[in-house]
Amino acid sequence: MDRVILVANLKSHKTESEAKIWLEELKKLDKSFFFRHEIIVSVPFTLLDFFKRSIHEEKLKISLAAENISEFDEGPYTGEVNAKQIKEFADFVLIGHSERRTNFNESNEVLLKKVQMANKYNLVPIFIIQNPTDLIPQGVELVAYEPISAIGSGNPESSEKAEEIALEIKQKGNYSVLYGGSVNAGNVKEFTVKENIDGVLVGSASLDAQEFIKIIQNA
Ligand code: PGA
Repeated sequence: MDRVILVANLKSHKTESEAKIWLEELKKLDKSFFFRHEIIVSVPFTLLDFFKRSIHEEKLKISLAAENISEFDEGPYTGEVNAKQIKEFADFVLIGHSERRTNFNESNEVLLKKVQMANKYNLVPIFIIQNPTDLIPQGVELVAYEPISAIGSGNPESSEKAEEIALEIKQKGNYSVLYGGSVNAGNVKEFTVKENIDGVLVGSASLDAQEFIKIIQNA
């Protein structure tokens, strides 16, 4: 792939002052890379405002993703952040991450509702599946394949296998497909050279801005 989608997933990491340092580092990347690739930063709710303001003020070519949305619309749901609220800050939202399916018991039914909410408010869902047979709800165009064994383990799927699965996913619908799971600066190219892999979703390695810069440069 020539133009690659690179998603940094900060998960439940970074305070605002830590994010500031991270972004200052990321800005050292040669501007041409921001135009060559699509860079999306997926951040906790508490950092959405900071990133939105910084991106706007400094005219950075970075898109923002939220890491979650409520399955409910606006209403009496104490503690929930809904898609309409997220849309004020971000254009993308992660839905279906294994950490949410496992730790927060998010079922296919809940994930479907979240996708519907995202669609209703024009947020693009980055829908994450762990197996090629996992259900992909209608309204999804961007799928990330992240095998559980590869997440945070330092043990990525082989790029051959990831390519095979990306193709399998594409045969089911008109999807762009990302690979995620232990992607780093050393292995990113193995995935992005594959015909059916449109980009990568990076967790641990994106926490260090310099490593994320190298991932972007090597992609
Ligand atoms: P990892 O995480 O890069 O640390 O394996 C990927 C993810 O969970 O999105």
